[in-house]
Order: sequence, then structure tokens, then C-alpha cells
Amino acid sequence: MTEKVLLSVQDLKRHFEIGQGETLKAVDGVSFDIVKGETFGLVGESGCGKSTAGRTILGLYNKTDGNVLFEEKNVHKMSDRERREYLKKVQMIFQDPYASLNPRSTVLEIIAEPIEVHKLYKSKEEVKSRVYELLEDVGLNRDHANRYPHEFSGGQRQRIGIARALALDPEFIIADEPISALDVSVQAQVVKLLQRLQKEKGLTYLFIAHDLSMVKYISDRIGVMYLGHMVELTTSNQLYDNPLHPYTQALLSAIPIPDPDIEESRERILLEGELPSPIKPPSGCVFRTRCPQAMSICAEKKPVWKEQEAGHFVACHLFN
Ligand SMILES: Nc1ncnc2c1ncn2[C@@H]1O[C@H](COP(=O)(O)OP(=O)(O)OP(=O)(O)O)[C@@H](O)[C@H]1O
Ligand SMILES: [Mg+2]
Repeated sequence: MTEKVLLSVQDLKRHFEIGQGETLKAVDGVSFDIVKGETFGLVGESGCGKSTAGRTILGLYNKTDGNVLFEEKNVHKMSDRERREYLKKVQMIFQDPYASLNPRSTVLEIIAEPIEVHKLYKSKEEVKSRVYELLEDVGLNRDHANRYPHEFSGGQRQRIGIARALALDPEFIIADEPISALDVSVQAQVVKLLQRLQKEKGLTYLFIAHDLSMVKYISDRIGVMYLGHMVELTTSNQLYDNPLHPYTQALLSAIPIPDPDIEESRERILLEGELPSPIKPPSGCVFRTRCPQAMSICAEKKPVWKEQEAGHFVACHLFN
């Protein structure tokens, strides 16, 4: 892994004005770098702002504040031409392989669409052979090209989505919960496919997930989000061996262990209460209302995002 920073997300905020003068802070100050060739896992429970972060990085959403730099270029200040180039280099794979493929298009049309939009090939024949090549890359074959999405299983549909994302030979892929809708056995196959493609094509991934179970195996580093904030960031190994933030500890304890003896005696950290609303987040530390270790300072002051040890960042008053 080279140490070239490909993507730099700096104190990124994305708020939504939702009427009656209210603001929903979906992403509220998130920072991380992604190094070329790595897989960066972004984890947190439903509604914490992962997809919004992904979409803002892709430039589908304007930012409210902060910066997103890709190869040192500011994503939200690109010219039309730079933006077109960016949208070739960066692709997204979506969570729901049922909803994300147009049911009225054939697989050939679905995968060829980005190629045609960017006018990469001149003849129909060239486009077709590129699509065949892509189908083979993802473990499907040319016989699949003239079929429709409903003729495929969930795992196969996700392969079609991956082939489409690869069509423009991207450098960076934002995979937004690409396996959450799939059966566990199929999840492993899709993960293996993504890993193989990463090796073959030198891809960099931002891999979004809502729990830590599969992310551990795929990610080099992981960032944990809670209610629009990043609470901890470090290597996968560090995160599992030495989680610092009480929220990370709770997420880890929620991963089932497939051994009934261990599972029975194991202590689970159950978070109390509901996820607060990002419209009225708690004062100070946003996690304090559910934190088993909350102290009085947590309501008064926002914890600082701090590098606790080399490359291991945490925002928590236990370490401030
Ligand atoms: N376009 C929008 N307008 C208003 N609010 C939005 C919009 N998109 C997302 N939100 C809100 O922003 C918050 C973060 O949503 P987001 O989809 O980013 O979460 P997520 O972490 O991806 O969740 P999930 O795991 O369920 O996909 C939620 O409270 C959501 O309701
Ligand atoms: Mg999402």
C-alpha cells in the first residue's frame, strides 16, 4: 500500500433544511483521509449519516461546510470538465441490488449506460465486447447480457451493479452497504469478489456498513460514526483489539460469536434508549444520552477529536 492520500475529508458537514426553520444535521463535522489502495470502512447504526457522507463525497450533495479533496482537488469547486472526470474516477455501488437496477433495461443496457454517457467507445460492437469483459470480471458471462434484472438472484444483481460501477475503470469506489441486503453466504462471495477486483485493478474503497461483523475482514482502517459525528478511527486490528470509545465497544459487543458457550457467557453492552434525533442532538457529546460511562462534563463540552496514539483517533471525554 502506497501512502498517497487519494481522498481527504476535512470537517465535512451536510445539513438539511427540513422546513419550519429546522435543520437536520446529517453529517456534522467528519474528518478522515483515504490512502490509495486501501479499504476504509465507515460504520455506524442506521441514520448516523453514512450515506449522506458518501453522497456528499461524490458531489451528489453540496456540502454545508468543510472540504472534500480528491487528488488534492476540491470536489465542490470543480469546473464542469473536472466534475465529469471526477465522476469517471469515482463510482458508487448501492445497498439494494433490487431497487438500484432499472427493471426495464437488459443487463447489457444497464452496464453500457455509463460507457455511452461518457462516449468511451465508438461502435456498438466495441461497447458490447467491453460489457462482456466486465461480466466476466464479476463472475457472470455473456449469456447474461440480454436478460433482465428480475431473472437474477440478489447476489448476481449485486455483481451486475459492480460491473456497472467498473465500466469506466474507476480508481475509487464508494460501496454503500453493498452486502447488507444479501444472505450471509452470498455476502462472503461478494466481499471476495470486491477484494479480488481491488487487487487486480488497484482500486480504493470506501466501504459503508451498519455493523462491524463483515467490515473487519475487508477494511484496512475503520471510522465509526454516531449521529453525524466520527467518534473513533483506527486500523481494523486496533479497533478490535483496543476499542477506546464506549460506542465502538458497544458495537463490537453486538457482533454474535458462532460458539454457544462463548455466546452464552459473554457480556453484551446494551445501549439504552433510542438514537436521538439529528434535529435536536444532545448538548456536548452527542453519544452521552446512551453512554454507560457518561460524566457531567459530557453534557457541557463537546469532546475534542484527538490522536490518542499513532493513527488512532477518538472523540471522548475519557481521553480528552
Ligand atoms: N435528502 C434528505 N433530506 C432530509 N433529511 C435527510 C435526507 N437524507 C438523509 N436525511 C436524514 O439524515 C440522517 C442521516 O441519513 P443517512 O441516510 O445518511 O443515514 P445512514 O447512516 O446512511 O443510514 P442507513 O444505515 O439507514 O442507510 C437521517 O436522519 C436521515 O433521515
Ligand atoms: Mg445509508
